[in-house]
Amino acid sequence: MMPRSGVLQGFLDAIFGAFDDCVADARARASITQIVAALKVPHPERQDIGRRLPVCEGHLTNALSVGSDRPSLGLLLERFRALEPLLEWKTRPHFDETASDNFAIGHANTMIVGPGGLEDRRDIWLGVSLLAPQVRYPDHDHAPEETYLVMSDGEFLHGDSGWFSPGVGGTFYNPPGIRHAMRSGGKPLLAFWALLPDQTKR
Ligand SMILES: [Fe+2]
Repeated sequence: MMPRSGVLQGFLDAIFGAFDDCVADARARASITQIVAALKVPHPERQDIGRRLPVCEGHLTNALSVGSDRPSLGLLLERFRALEPLLEWKTRPHFDETASDNFAIGHANTMIVGPGGLEDRRDIWLGVSLLAPQVRYPDHDHAPEETYLVMSDGEFLHGDSGWFSPGVGGTFYNPPGIRHAMRSGGKPLLAFWALLPDQTKR
């Protein structure tokens, strides 16, 4: 098995350090622990896939300039900046009327590790979403449980929670199948997500 590239491994070390530092929910901690264990085995890395979308220009730089006094978050932002040129940003193919009218041109997602990602594998999904200001992501749900790590202002919704603002370094856990969404206010929204599909659970 080829070793993982230094830039990806450095990012993974930083993001799981940040999850460890910021996640309190026991279900989320258990999920992250299983993801970290699975990631000990690298899968092949796709080459030359880096692609930005127009929404990334400007908004991504803005979102990444938020900074943090928390060392684990500062390191995460630094390592993500180094990794980002290698990533393929995409739009969500399907959405409904719960999305704002500017959703299609106002968002970008990238899979870092997972199906179609930089490290292409099916047992883990780790990625990030960017929303331009004043964009609402559509309601959606999925079978894998999910832990978010939020790196900006912005509001989130899951189940019957109503909108809440985790803030920079805020985290929350989405149980399997729960309906959820996010929306930005006057600033771009940037949030990492780590999903654990069922088949990897023991
Ligand atoms: Fe999700």
